[in-house]
Amino acid sequence: MANSNVTLFLFFLLFVGHGIVELQASRPVNNHLQTLQSSAPANQPYRTGFHFQPPKNWINGVMVYKGVYHLFYQYNPNGAVVDGIKIWGHSTSTDLVNWTPHEPAIYPSQPYDINSCYSGSATILLGGRPAILYTGVDSQNRQVQNLAFPKNLSDPYLRDWIKSDQNPVMQPTVENRINASSFRDPTTAWLGPDSQWRVTIGSKVDQQGIAILYRSKDFVNWFQSETPLHSANGTGMWECPDFYPVLVAGQNGVDTSLNGPFVKHVLKVSLDQTRHDLYTIGSYDSVKDIYRPDEGSVEGDSGLRYDYGKYYASKSFFDCVEKRRILTAWINESSSVADDVKKGWSGIHAIPRKIWLAESGKQLVQWPIAEIQKQRANHVSLANKLLEGGSVIEVSGVTAAQADVEVSFVIKDLENAEVLEPSWTDPRLLCSQKGASVKGSLGPFGLLVLASDDLKENTAVFFRIFKSNNRYVVLMCSDQSSSSLDQDNDKTTYGAFLDLDIQHQKLSLRSLIDHSIVESFGGGGKACITSRVYPTLAINEAAHLYAFNNGTQAMNIAELNAWSMNTADIS
Ligand SMILES: *[C@@H]1O[C@H](CO)[C@@H](O)[C@H](O)[C@H]1NC(C)=O
Ligand SMILES: *[C@@H]1O[C@H](CO)[C@@H](O)[C@H](O)[C@H]1NC(C)=O
Ligand SMILES: *[C@@H]1O[C@H](CO)[C@@H](O)[C@H](O)[C@H]1NC(C)=O
Ligand SMILES: *[C@@H]1O[C@H](CO)[C@@H](O)[C@H](O)[C@H]1NC(C)=O
Ligand SMILES: *[C@@H]1O[C@H](CO)[C@@H](O)[C@H](O)[C@H]1NC(C)=O
Repeated sequence: MANSNVTLFLFFLLFVGHGIVELQASRPVNNHLQTLQSSAPANQPYRTGFHFQPPKNWINGVMVYKGVYHLFYQYNPNGAVVDGIKIWGHSTSTDLVNWTPHEPAIYPSQPYDINSCYSGSATILLGGRPAILYTGVDSQNRQVQNLAFPKNLSDPYLRDWIKSDQNPVMQPTVENRINASSFRDPTTAWLGPDSQWRVTIGSKVDQQGIAILYRSKDFVNWFQSETPLHSANGTGMWECPDFYPVLVAGQNGVDTSLNGPFVKHVLKVSLDQTRHDLYTIGSYDSVKDIYRPDEGSVEGDSGLRYDYGKYYASKSFFDCVEKRRILTAWINESSSVADDVKKGWSGIHAIPRKIWLAESGKQLVQWPIAEIQKQRANHVSLANKLLEGGSVIEVSGVTAAQADVEVSFVIKDLENAEVLEPSWTDPRLLCSQKGASVKGSLGPFGLLVLASDDLKENTAVFFRIFKSNNRYVVLMCSDQSSSSLDQDNDKTTYGAFLDLDIQHQKLSLRSLIDHSIVESFGGGGKACITSRVYPTLAINEAAHLYAFNNGTQAMNIAELNAWSMNTADIS
C-alpha cells in the first residue's frame, strides 16, 4: 500500500490552525504586501534569533517540493492580534532553519473563501503534483473545504496557486448535518488499499470531538464516509487533526499512506477547549476506515501531549529525503495583547522536531531537527562535576539569551527520594506546588535559563525524583514564576511525568533558549515543555545560564555542553 509516487518530492506542509475568531466584515487584504514589507521596530529584546517569525503581526501557522521546504502559515495581515481575516503566508527554506519570505500563497478572493483562508494541508498527488486543501470561510460565514494547485510546477518556489473551479469541494449541507461553524483544517490526504484518497477534517457535535472522513478517486469529487475516522465524547471541537503512521521499530519516518503490521498510527487533535495538542497511538483499519486508540489510551485533556507547555495547532509531514517525520507548531505569546500590539508581532514557530515511536510503543519521542546544530558556536562543556545540594553553577562563555544547552545527571542514593503521595497525579499541579524554590530531597535540580546575575529573574527547568512503592517517578517542570519582574504576563508553571528507568538510565535535559522562548526536552525527548518568558533584566548580554540543585542530596553532572546560537534568517 505504500505509495512511492506520493513521496516523489519532498513537500510538506506544516500547517497550523487558528482560533475560532469573530470574523470582521470582510476586509480587502490588498494591503498585505505593504504589511509584509514593513518590519517590526528595532531593538526588541523578545524577538527570536533562530525561531521562525514573520516580519510582524500575528501568525499561527508550514511543505517540500524539489528539495525546497515550504512554510505556509496563518497570518493576519492587519495586525498583531488573533481576531481578523486570515491568509496563507509563505516562506521557503532548504534547511528548515533559514527562511526566505514570499508573497502570500492563498488569500480571500472568491465567495467560497471571501471571509478567511484557514488552515489546511498539502498532499503530493501521483506523479508528484502538489495540491492544497484548505478551509475557506464563505460569504455566508460557513466553513467549507477548497482545493488549490500550483500555477507553475517549474517554479521551485511555487509562488502562485490557482484555486479549483470546483470549489468548494466539501461543504456542510442539510443532509450531512455538519455544523457550518465547526468544520475545518483538512489533513494531508492518504491513499487506501482501494486507491482512493482519504482526508479527515476536524469537527464536533455538542461536546463530542469528531474527525470527519471523506474519500475521493480524483481529489476533486469528495464523498463523506458514514462513520467518522474517530470521535470522542466530552473533548469539544477538534482543530487541526493530524493522522499518520509511525514505525513500530526505529526512528525513521514513513509516508502518510503506509499501513501494515510494522506501523502504528497516531491521531493528534488540537483541543479548542483547552488549547492543547493531544495524541493517541492506535491502529488504523483501512478497510473499515476506522482508527482505534490502543487500550488504556486517554482521550481527554489528561492524555498524552506533544508538549506540556505552549504548543498548538501542530502539523507533521514526512520528509522523504531525510526519511523522517517532522513536527512543527505555533507557539503563542504569554504577554498581554497591548504588549503584542506594541512590539508589533505575535506568535512564533517551534523548532521543527523529528518524531518517532518510543521503544515502549506507548508514546512518541521528539528531538530538534539535526539542522539546528549548524547554528551552534562557542562550545563550552563540563564533565563529571559534583552539584551539591543548594548549589548554583554558572555556565559562562555562551550567549545565554540565544543558546542550546544539553546536560545529563547521574543520581546517587535514589532511596532518599521523597515519597509520592497517591493523590499527586497531576504533574502540572505538583510542579506549581513544588516550584524551584521548594526544597526537596532529590531535586529540584536542572537549569536556570534567561537568568539575571542576582537570580531575581530566571526560568527554572528542572526535575524532581519521587519514589512510589517499588518504582521511581521523575517529574519535569518549567517554573516561570520568577521569569520576569513584569507582572503583566502569564507565568503559569508547566509539568509532566517522564517515563524513564532512572535506575538504569541517565537523566538528560536539553533546552533551546531564544530570548523569549525556552523549548525543553527531558529524557532524550520523552517529555517536552515550551514556555514564553519576557525578562526585564536578563535580556541580551545581561542574560545568564546556570545549573542548580535546590534539593538536599548532591548529584553529579555527568556532562554539560552549551553553545551560543547564531542568528538565522527567520522571516
Ligand atoms: C515557470 O517557472 C520557471 C522557473 O522559474 C520559469 O522559467 C517559467 O518562465 C515559468 N513559466 C511561466 C508560464 O511563468
Ligand atoms: C456548532 O458550532 C458552533 C460554534 O462552535 C456552536 O456554537 C454550536 O453549538 C454548534 N452546534 C452544535 C449542534 O454542536
Ligand atoms: C458518546 O455519548 C453518547 C451519549 O451519551 C453515547 O450514546 C455514545 O455511545 C458515546 N460515544 C462514545 C464513542 O463513547
Ligand atoms: C495563548 O496564551 C494564552 C496565555 O498565555 C493562553 O491562555 C491561551 O490558551 C493560548 N492560546 C493558544 C491557542 O495556545
Ligand atoms: C532554592 O530554595 C531557596 C529556599 O527555598 C530559595 O530561596 C531559592 O530561590 C531557591 N533557588 C532557586 C533557583 O529557585
